Amino acid sequence: MCGIFGYTGNKLAAPLLVGGLELLEYRGYDSAGIAVINGTGKISLTRKAGGTDSVARLSAAVHELSPGGSLGIAHTRWATHGEVAERNAHPHVGRSGNVAVVHNGIVENYIDLKSELIDSGFTFSSETDSEVIAHLVSRETENGSCLSEAVRSAMRRVEGAAAIVATSVSEPEKLVAARLGNAGGIVIGSANGSHMLASDIVALLPHTNRVCYLESGQVATITPKSCDVTDLDGEPQQIDFVTSSRSADQAARGQFPHFMAKEIAEQPDSITAAMRQRVDLAQNTIDVPEFDLTPEQASAIDRAVFIGMGTSLHTGMHGASTLERLAQVPSYAENASEFRYRHPVVNENTLVVSVTQSGETADTLAAMELARDSGSKLVTAVEAEGTQATRLADITLPVRCGQEIGVAATKTMVATMITLTLMGARLAALRGVMSRETESEIAKALASLPSLAGTVLERDEPVKKIAQDLTAYRHLLYLGRGTQFPIAMEGALKMKEIAYIHAEGYAAGEMKHGVNALISAEMPTVALAPRDEMFEKMVSNVNEVKSRGGHVIAVTTDGDDVMESIADDVLYVPQTHPLLQPILNVIPMQMLAYHTAVALGMDPDKPRNLAKTVTVE
Ligand code: AGP
Repeated sequence: MCGIFGYTGNKLAAPLLVGGLELLEYRGYDSAGIAVINGTGKISLTRKAGGTDSVARLSAAVHELSPGGSLGIAHTRWATHGEVAERNAHPHVGRSGNVAVVHNGIVENYIDLKSELIDSGFTFSSETDSEVIAHLVSRETENGSCLSEAVRSAMRRVEGAAAIVATSVSEPEKLVAARLGNAGGIVIGSANGSHMLASDIVALLPHTNRVCYLESGQVATITPKSCDVTDLDGEPQQIDFVTSSRSADQAARGQFPHFMAKEIAEQPDSITAAMRQRVDLAQNTIDVPEFDLTPEQASAIDRAVFIGMGTSLHTGMHGASTLERLAQVPSYAENASEFRYRHPVVNENTLVVSVTQSGETADTLAAMELARDSGSKLVTAVEAEGTQATRLADITLPVRCGQEIGVAATKTMVATMITLTLMGARLAALRGVMSRETESEIAKALASLPSLAGTVLERDEPVKKIAQDLTAYRHLLYLGRGTQFPIAMEGALKMKEIAYIHAEGYAAGEMKHGVNALISAEMPTVALAPRDEMFEKMVSNVNEVKSRGGHVIAVTTDGDDVMESIADDVLYVPQTHPLLQPILNVIPMQMLAYHTAVALGMDPDKPRNLAKTVTVE
């Protein structure tokens, strides 16, 4: 939610700020803006709001205005307080026009702070909670504080989770950044004679891979040549720059029309990447070196809880059913935003597995904190390195598919499903409940999975044709059973998210308990019916839909001839090991949503009202 970028150095700041925002656009794109301290010692502000192309319009404006100055801050917004309008776009400027601030997160006590500021003569030009921070910092500098002290003092007043960057015309080489709680990270990069900072390392990689991460409660003061960190009281803190292994190339769209298309197409590689150094294809063995429990610790686990949001919740559902099946540990998945508030009973014998591609989702991080405080063994499966989830967890399982830019999660889901399947197998081995034969069967099936995923991708034309038909509908139903239930949920989420078609994902067994009343010619059903142990049950469900006048698109496995005789359309997916079948089946769900969105003229990379990284609850 919201992207922040800042630069101080010897180059012209404005183009670098816009370049940074282009790479952070996935975090929010309601509005975008930059503030540059120009040669005349004034803040030059450029902001654009509305639509999903605010960064592009900002870029054009900056190109035309060419603001001078070699220090600035920039922000791309996902609105929480106040409508999408230029006055609400960041940066916000403090009362005397001397200070500019960008903010990510929510100031929970902003109403109290705002009335206090209004009572002491401040006027507000936006409806945002963020503007109170600009005025608080401004008031402190008016009272004689340097920018660093002003930020520390302002942040001591703020309740909630926030990441901010401030600049002041009085100290024109200095950026001050602060982080409170989990409202998105701040990564600082060091390059020749300059420093820059961003919400995500991806925006720094074109300039440097020497980075350090700010922790909650820390304030960084950076100039072109220095980076000093303190806590909120000004006590110096040790911070170490590390060299990241990530490269800027990973974020390029290449010849694909959308990032989502690229990321769907990358999934055979994502599967391979998640298996690397974990599956020995010569010996057909599975190991997950990062999951370094002792056999005693593994045997002490009496329950596993997977937490996540959205696609990551569906991924966790798959992870839980796989873990339960392989490791014989009672397991379930839960929405992190529910888990965190319902006083769950978890203890040192509970394995809590957080699923979060970004490592920044506010609800998931809060649920992790709760689990950590309860003494649970805490694992996170994550794509983004160095993020807060990895700092909270006892064990980090990188999913290694490379950064995902499209707002709709695709390759991160598939890579995480692989990672969690391997973790389930490893736990089973540590507990001594998995036969060598089962391990070998899974390893052999994994060996052919990348090429089978490639086969799914090659079958694009039939999916495209069905997608074209779906553009005529406003409602869809997705049905699945067993391992396919999370895939039905995910198929429906993808369709809602990027094609704006109302879609419901249901366990097919629920049909008779209410959902059947919806079946009509106006609501097609996507039935996930691979040839597995639930196939006959799905055949009955498909027949029930057909006999009530519903249109059925069945997704079954190669070689099946039953679905062809009862469904209206059939998509075929290669057959694999039953525990891996959902990993193949989710791919046509992504393709179907993608082609439907494109056929409807939507931009699948930037769906309305959404952002890739949700750092507010
Ligand atoms: C799915 O396409 C969405 N991008 C969304 O549901 C996402 O999975 C969710 O917000 C969780 O994000 P995370 O994996 O970064 O925690």
